Amino acid sequence: MADDTDDGPGDAPIELGDLSDLADGQIRCFEDIGPDGIVVCRAGGDLYALTDNCSHADTPLSEGRLRGFGLTCPLHGASFDVRDGSHSGPPAWEGVGCHTVTESDGVAVVVLAGSTGRDDGPVADGSRMQTR
Ligand code: FES
Repeated sequence: MADDTDDGPGDAPIELGDLSDLADGQIRCFEDIGPDGIVVCRAGGDLYALTDNCSHADTPLSEGRLRGFGLTCPLHGASFDVRDGSHSGPPAWEGVGCHTVTESDGVAVVVLAGSTGRDDGPVADGSRMQTR
């Protein structure tokens, strides 16, 4: 019997644990979740999660800086809105995957979107530039 849960991101909730210590403006990397890992951010009091891979040239966004709702890539400075994964402009040509995070009873849970924002699926806008 085929197992259709091993082909990539799905809609199964994944526990992230207690993230109550993640203060506003802080980010945390979960490198084992999804093909590129995810970066979880707290902004405006809420948790957000993006695929941890810049759409421009494969750089972990978790090494970048969060200001307000914008997560800036450390390599060339593209900024991504943590609320929807959209990018603010060049050098990125498209957004990154945005995943739903909820907190309940001290436990954060993420549900991966169908796309990691890397090669397929819904992204904010624009066309993809192949950088590798
Ligand atoms: S690798 Fe992120 S902006 Fe270039």
